[in-house]
Amino acid sequence: MSENAKKKSGKAGEPAETEQTREPAEAGAAAEAQESAEAGAAEEAGKGGESAESAEPDGADVPDGAASAESEQPAEAAEAAEDAEPAEPAEAVDEKPAAPVASAAAVPAPRSDADGVRTPLLRVRGLTRHFPITKGLLKRQVGAVQAVDGIDFDVYPGETLGVVGESGCGKSTMGRLITRLDEPTGGTVEFEGQDITHLSPGKLRPMRRDVQMIFQDPYGSLNPRHTIGGIVSTPFRLQGVEPEGGVKKEVQRLLELVGLSPEHYNRYPHEFSGGQRQRIGIARALALKPKLVVADEPVSALDVSIQAQVVNLMDDLQDELGLTYVIIAHDLSVIRHVSDRIVVMYLGKIVELADRTSLYTTPMHPYTKALMSAVPVPDTKRRTERDRILLKGDVPSPINPPSGCRFRTRCWKATETCTTTEPPLVSLKDGHKVACHHPENAPGPGTA
Ligand SMILES: Nc1ncnc2c1ncn2[C@@H]1O[C@H](COP(=O)(O)OP(=O)(O)O)[C@@H](O)[C@H]1O
Ligand code: SF4
Ligand SMILES: [Mg+2]
Repeated sequence: MSENAKKKSGKAGEPAETEQTREPAEAGAAAEAQESAEAGAAEEAGKGGESAESAEPDGADVPDGAASAESEQPAEAAEAAEDAEPAEPAEAVDEKPAAPVASAAAVPAPRSDADGVRTPLLRVRGLTRHFPITKGLLKRQVGAVQAVDGIDFDVYPGETLGVVGESGCGKSTMGRLITRLDEPTGGTVEFEGQDITHLSPGKLRPMRRDVQMIFQDPYGSLNPRHTIGGIVSTPFRLQGVEPEGGVKKEVQRLLELVGLSPEHYNRYPHEFSGGQRQRIGIARALALKPKLVVADEPVSALDVSIQAQVVNLMDDLQDELGLTYVIIAHDLSVIRHVSDRIVVMYLGKIVELADRTSLYTTPMHPYTKALMSAVPVPDTKRRTERDRILLKGDVPSPINPPSGCRFRTRCWKATETCTTTEPPLVSLKDGHKVACHHPENAPGPGTA
């Protein structure tokens, strides 16, 4: 149950709970969520809460974010995670730079210029996920956590779409919806023109080859009882795919591709460092040559020194394999290096969507401006204390979000209109959309 749900239940005087009771998950839950989804249990995977990330440490997220479901660690998950991760890997294997990528099958896709002319790989319209809050023995619904509330965006082949926003704003939920590890309660998701919003697990199966997810926690997402070979070959087993030359040879090729050694095939996750484990997660995600990779905070759990290596690896693999990425992060410092276009989320809504240059040079939403002011810049002369916008107050509850503009309780530009009318996400210049009644840097007179 989320913190917000708890607060609500406190007020109601009776225990209230969300539909998604947090079930104990094993370490390796993320992998298993993916596995079970592939094995035809996507519904459970979604409704279980999931478990996919319940073992993730979320401590890196912005502290004043709305209560995150991920912060509730089921005891068993914590235990299993403990089992799985001695503080210091007993026999850490040396980190190797990524091997040069050599994949004959790879056809690099062009990066999108977001001109809107090409067919998107992924088309999301009105995407909504409300988690019901129920009360009493009869589980009467008394409210809902509006985790994702009517968002629209496209992802073009070959591009990297960054998704940024404070903890609890719905990023992970969105990631699980577009990979169909969870089922939306409203809106549509189209992948390559096919509506996958409510496809049954069986019908989702072919799509699961093309859409893969990388999770935040390289510790929790690998099953500690499986060898690296077993983990990376799981997708082949689940999809019944026999690569040319056999699974073992292909897995060893993948290990090399992500900068590990083919000899690591028989080793176990605990023998590897955080960065190496994330490389293993990437190898697993790439096994079936997916078209779209959704990475949920792929480097947040890693040491800063390792983050750049993993980001560079992902970048190289994208060019070589023609991958399309959706990369989720809670701050703009990772996102700015990897993204072609950026979506800024706040309390389940998209507040701004623009290409990277436009977003950084002319941010239009006050929230984006505040987020950007928090990104450290190396040149201290360029950033004085005055530049930093400190947002007042906490992120409001997604159970009962503010009327009109959801950001109005923290916005220094809020007016009466902001209280009464929700600002639609509109395009103010080429490819730059914003949901604000009084945007910054707006082109033309009288708009700001
Ligand atoms: N399974 C769930 N049941 C109930 N509430 C949930 C569940 N998953 C997420 N939430 C709530 O939805 C909101 C968005 O969560 P999440 O998508 O994890 O945000 P983010 O990834 O941006 O931190 C949070 O308030 C969280 O508590
Ligand atoms: S609509 Fe109003 S409250 Fe919302 S961000 Fe714009 S100015 Fe601020
Ligand atoms: Mg998250």
